[in-house]
Amino acid sequence: MRKIVIAGNWKMNKTVAESVKLAADVVAAVKDIRQVVVAIAPTYLALAKVAEVVKGTNVKLAAQDVHWENQGAFTGKVSADMLQEIGVDFVIIGHSEQRTYFGETDETVNKKVRKVLSLGMGPIICIGETLAERQGGQLESVLTTQVNGAYAGLSADDARRTVVAYEPVWAIGTGVTASDDEAQQAHAFVRGLLAKLYGDSVAQSISIQYGGSMKPENAAGLLGQPDIDGGLIGGAALKADSFLGIITPGESAAQST
Ligand code: 13P
Repeated sequence: MRKIVIAGNWKMNKTVAESVKLAADVVAAVKDIRQVVVAIAPTYLALAKVAEVVKGTNVKLAAQDVHWENQGAFTGKVSADMLQEIGVDFVIIGHSEQRTYFGETDETVNKKVRKVLSLGMGPIICIGETLAERQGGQLESVLTTQVNGAYAGLSADDARRTVVAYEPVWAIGTGVTASDDEAQQAHAFVRGLLAKLYGDSVAQSISIQYGGSMKPENAAGLLGQPDIDGGLIGGAALKADSFLGIITPGESAAQST
């Protein structure tokens, strides 16, 4: 059965010292969590230090991006084997902020996903529509293009090792969350796309996170939906207690399935 995966995407927040402190607070807060896979994604700068904090604990380490080449003249970038060396478990790929501000395309998402999988790490593949796309009736076509693009050429075994994060762009950092029903419908649609590509059993094994203003107040409702298997959390992951406030209902949801 698929796992509930709850990851904190710290984005461009926290100095190294602050990251080490927050990571230690998260480790302490979630030490009794058994069912939920918990991950934190600090900045590149803080990753190696945070790796030392989470080593041997039940908190997994995630990176916020990666380059698809092994090394070379790619100023400002970090490769997958550099991430693997320090113990990264998951890599967030195709976040809407990457797509909007830094030229990420479905093609670069696909290259990054393949590279990360080839080194045994788990990609968290971000997809989601803008408000204009949703209002223009393009929700399904946008998700279809993004899913087909990200998974192009991936085998079923590769696909099983991926996580999807459905993050409606209009809900990110806005305080506006998709309703439980809106989110569930989009998740079910995405699972249907995965089933078309790989069959039902693979689609049923892939965790699909929700992201976009998820917080303790709305986590239980979202995580109670049949196709919502965790969360990718921005603002509410920047404090251990609010992050735990999302993980705890996840633990209950996992136990009731
Ligand atoms: P917020 O939780 O701050 O809306 O951010 C969501 C997100 O983009 C996680 O990747």
